[in-house]
Amino acid sequence: MLRGKRILITAGPTKEFIDPVRFISNASSGKMGYAIAEELSNKGADVILVSGPTNLKCNSSQIKIVQVTTALEMLQACQHYFDSVDIAIFTAAVADYRPMIMESSKIKKNDETMTIQLTKNPDIAYEFGKGKRADQLSIGFALETDNIVEYGKGKMQKKNLDFIVLNTTNENGEGFGFDTNKISLLFRDNSIEHFPLKSKKEVASDIIASLEEQLQQLFT
Ligand code: PMT
Repeated sequence: MLRGKRILITAGPTKEFIDPVRFISNASSGKMGYAIAEELSNKGADVILVSGPTNLKCNSSQIKIVQVTTALEMLQACQHYFDSVDIAIFTAAVADYRPMIMESSKIKKNDETMTIQLTKNPDIAYEFGKGKRADQLSIGFALETDNIVEYGKGKMQKKNLDFIVLNTTNENGEGFGFDTNKISLLFRDNSIEHFPLKSKKEVASDIIASLEEQLQQLFT
């Protein structure tokens, strides 16, 4: 069912530079996104992985990797594929804001306090959702510390996602950085499927099994 499907995946963090040596970022390792990319590629999908800065090596030479650093670069790289993909999976932890100005020289510590003015980054999943065709599917992620179902529902609707993967940082082994994750899948009819803590490879398989079910519904 996934053989030959063209799939765009975002993974990892973005870095938003304040000056040449400092940036705003987050703790995403890219492991979740890379695991999904590899599982999909093993199933014969044609995978494009747009990756923020990570230390990971991709284990499949079949996957097209596009390396980016900032949210603006990630959007630009993804937009190139928006029309041609069947499915988009947004695993990346994109920085919501970037500094208004990137100083060209290292900022000196002259004052006791300093203020950095930030501006909102574009939302890649939202941009895809705006123009999503009836024959395209999109899956998003939400990492929250509280009210995860409520926030997840809001994100799924706003970004026009077909389903959303919920994860938290509340327990050891979940979310950022670990080789494991504990997820729930929230669907458009508000049903939820909960999963125990598993390796990110197994989590990727669970997500892909749900994706296959959605594809079956879409094309039957
Ligand atoms: O990389 P790992 O260390 O393996 O960790 C995996 C993970 C925790 C990063 C991953 O499982 C995860 O939850 N990713 C989403 C993180 C998040 O909090 O996303 P968000 O709530 O800011 O965004 C919601 C959705 O919109 C996500 O699908 C995100 O990729 C997308 N988004 C958000 C902002 C933005 N500017 N563009 C986007 O596409």
